[in-house]
Amino acid sequence: MTTPTFPHDFLWGAATSAFQIEGSRTADGAGESVWDVFGRQPGAVEGGGDGSLACDSYRRWPEDVAILEELGLRAYRFSIGWSRVMPDGHRVNEAALDHYERIVDALVEAGIDPVVTLNHWDMPQALMADRGWIGRSTVDAFVAYAQAVAHRLGDRVQHWITQNEPWIIQLLGYQLGLHAPGIVDLAGSVVAGHHVLLGHGRAADAIKQVVPGAQVGVALSLFPCEPATGSEADREAAWASDGYVNRWYLDPLHGRGYPKDTRELWDGILLREGADFTLDDVILPGDEEQIGGRTDFVGVNYYTRRVCAAAPVTAERPFPWAVVGPTGDVPRTDEGWEVRPESFDALLRRLHDDYGAPRIMITENGGVYGDAPTHDGKVHDNRRIEYLRSHLRAVLSAREAGVDVFGYMQWSLLDNFEWALGYRPRFGIVHVDYPTGRRTPKDSALFYAQVVRSGVVPDEDPAHLPFG
Ligand code: FCB
Repeated sequence: MTTPTFPHDFLWGAATSAFQIEGSRTADGAGESVWDVFGRQPGAVEGGGDGSLACDSYRRWPEDVAILEELGLRAYRFSIGWSRVMPDGHRVNEAALDHYERIVDALVEAGIDPVVTLNHWDMPQALMADRGWIGRSTVDAFVAYAQAVAHRLGDRVQHWITQNEPWIIQLLGYQLGLHAPGIVDLAGSVVAGHHVLLGHGRAADAIKQVVPGAQVGVALSLFPCEPATGSEADREAAWASDGYVNRWYLDPLHGRGYPKDTRELWDGILLREGADFTLDDVILPGDEEQIGGRTDFVGVNYYTRRVCAAAPVTAERPFPWAVVGPTGDVPRTDEGWEVRPESFDALLRRLHDDYGAPRIMITENGGVYGDAPTHDGKVHDNRRIEYLRSHLRAVLSAREAGVDVFGYMQWSLLDNFEWALGYRPRFGIVHVDYPTGRRTPKDSALFYAQVVRSGVVPDEDPAHLPFG
């Protein structure tokens, strides 16, 4: 029996996003982003952290590129600061494009494929004049931004990701108000989500007009929704929850339009909320055609699963399910998220089976482990090694079953600003000492580099192996 391995041309990389690492918020004529404004609200960010310094990557990016090179990575998923390029939402700031052009040139020079995300949540605050993504005019502003970036970088960038996590934008940004722009508006959130998807479709067309050979994708936060018990009611609840979290995005992107069951659910919610519109007023004729069939690869951000049970609708819970688990003694990261590589494998197979065998890039996958440098100056994050190992085995297993996963972007290259959770959770394979900005590759980075070099993922916990 031969051990399955990754092919030589597999796209190995690591991911970051602009607001989470850059700092230098006003450099080169940048405009304010919704995260600059949201982060100033008392209590919005744990520990009161903000993006003013972060990893200082706006200035220290050559070090980041050098680390990618040292680790032998072949791709870097990073994002362009939207509010830097379009400070007032509409006018192009060439100085910001100059900055990103220098990064792209350095990556290409080092043989590292730039995987560019356009909207990783730092939209210009100026676009709040039309309520951010709730306003349809934001779609036009996003397309103009995509065009400007494609014109400047299109000859050197092959992989594009338009939107990062439409569901999370909708849920945390517009439904619960836990992320920028901090809006709490259940009815408005579904409108925002639709405009994010429409933005994807229209930006994909705009990019391809400029760069006909571009590969354009969207990064989805996919959470397998599994029933708490075998009961019919729980199975239905899990399916309904899957509609809300996963199918609502996957179906229209694959040209099927919005799923009927979830559309009915939302229409019921709009009625209950007393909204003065229905989905027919929001999803206009032609919109679904504009969203479908424009995804050259599906970007999968996978962290964990949801365990769902049937539950009555209440004032606090507008949906007929509750996320009840996982409970009990399961492996968890330091953030409490269940470590569940089996669900990752199953998710990838499901995408293949249910959505016509799409090309898939893992655009994010990783875990929070708080290990700090020890007296030897190294970071022995063995639990992250095991997380990585088991999830890479899951990718291998899915590939063996015929799923077309062609790349893996580990989240994250660096410890960084974890949104509302501030600087506490550490996701990086490279440790960042925030006061000095010093970067130290953790043992997991060395482990990852070895997998990248060999294409082989050990089939058992390598905790005993000497990484460090
Ligand atoms: C995802 C985000 C990314 C990071 C990880 C942990 O939802 O896309 O920026 O915060 O989670």
